[in-house]
Amino acid sequence: MSRSHNITFAALFAVAAFAFGHAADAATRGDDASIARGRYIVRIAGCNDCHTAGYAASGGTIPEKDWLLGDAVGWHGDWGTTYPPNLRLVLSAMNEDQWVKSAKTVQGRPPMPWFALRDMTEQDLRAVYRFVRQLRPVGTPSPAYVPPGTTPAGPVIRFPAAPK
Ligand code: HEC
Repeated sequence: MSRSHNITFAALFAVAAFAFGHAADAATRGDDASIARGRYIVRIAGCNDCHTAGYAASGGTIPEKDWLLGDAVGWHGDWGTTYPPNLRLVLSAMNEDQWVKSAKTVQGRPPMPWFALRDMTEQDLRAVYRFVRQLRPVGTPSPAYVPPGTTPAGPVIRFPAAPK
């Protein structure tokens, strides 16, 4: 192969690589913006307060790789004892559309602010999904719900009974 051929191939390759890189960028840019938005929502909507162990006590400094893994500390009140689920596992078990539907309709037990999910725009719910899904689906499921009248095994945060 002559030298000029080599240069032509090199130039073609560079153009192709540039064009491909550009198209790929355009395709992922929307997703990147969505993921960044999801990260922001999770951070400011307080999801970590309950779904990330120790987040509040740390002043919100738990690294992102440890976010949303759920918590084994129960919330105990007249509804029984609830445990904030590992959202990485929960979301990895559904696709994006299923998540949007579930977020709009599920009414979790206290203290889950399910109405915050219901009132979130579809675009924001999709952003939350994309952010959570690009964190790896690791960790263990949180303890199962314990109904009223049954004493939970581990530590709990106790809510006083509602005034009569
Ligand atoms: C005050 C604590 C608290 C906050 C804040 C909170 N959650 Fe929860 N969340 C819980 C608890 C406790 C449950 C389990 C409720 C139950 O067992 O019915 C739960 C359940 C859920 C579920 C249902 C999971 C399933 O297994 O179906 C989803 C989804 C969820 N939370 C997402 C979020 C998101 C997203 C945010 C932030 C916008 C958030 N939560 C904020 C405590 C909280």
